[in-house]
Amino acid sequence: MIKPVKISVKNLGVNYGMIKAIKGISFEFNAGEITALIGSNGAGKTTTLKALSGLLGHTGEVFYNDLNISSLSAPERLQHKMALCPEGRGIFPNLTVTENLMLGAYLEKSKSKIAELIDQQFSMFSRLGERRAQVAGTLSGGEQQMLAIARALMSEPLMLMLDEPSLGLAPVIIEQIFQKFEELKNRGIGLLIVEQNAHLALEVAARAYVLETGTITLNGKGSDLLSDPRVVEAYLT
Ligand SMILES: Nc1ncnc2c1ncn2[C@@H]1O[C@H](COP(=O)(O)OP(=O)(O)OP(=O)(O)O)[C@@H](O)[C@H]1O
Ligand SMILES: [Mg+2]
Repeated sequence: MIKPVKISVKNLGVNYGMIKAIKGISFEFNAGEITALIGSNGAGKTTTLKALSGLLGHTGEVFYNDLNISSLSAPERLQHKMALCPEGRGIFPNLTVTENLMLGAYLEKSKSKIAELIDQQFSMFSRLGERRAQVAGTLSGGEQQMLAIARALMSEPLMLMLDEPSLGLAPVIIEQIFQKFEELKNRGIGLLIVEQNAHLALEVAARAYVLETGTITLNGKGSDLLSDPRVVEAYLT
């Protein structure tokens, strides 16, 4: 079993010039659990994940267990096994499936280890294995999303952050991908899932946070928020 990790975010703030996109939010997520962050367009969900990954400067603090990692760069946070599967998938359309996966392990030097990691992804996502030599730009939307998730897994994350994994996908594909998330959770990986599909996210999440214009306005068990009238009115109707 993977060693337990908790990421604690304390008073996180992000500014774009004069605009305060994130206004001092605090939350946490744990290994072996799914945590959801929901909110409308422009609420600051992507900004939060980018800040946690070290891609955007921020105020406030991020703790990896008791270790303050606030000043670490994105590659250093990846070395701490925090990985981001970005919004819009971010795969390289002209590279093959295998080449895209190799880029996900850019910190790994051992070729045999990289080959082993690629095999692991193909056993988890058999459709990608069948299409290993295909250029990624010609994959279907669902296959591209699987590739983005598999590429994030190439860094063997303990804590995986996913930005809108269900966006633009058919319900049957969404169901398959969320089943994979359950598998990852059961392996001990902690998932922080950002979703506009609030219903789906709250169903799978142990804990969830609602973000509104840069502030966390509600939090609770996923199942409790599913029936909270404020959530139902704003996000589930
Ligand atoms: N590079 C940037 N420069 C200036 N403002 C930005 C920048 N990136 C994001 N913003 C603004 O910050 C706010 C939060 O954006 P963010 O992308 O985090 O929202 P989001 O919750 O992910 O929305 P969506 O659901 O549409 O993806 C928005 O008002 C957005 O216009
Ligand atoms: Mg976003």
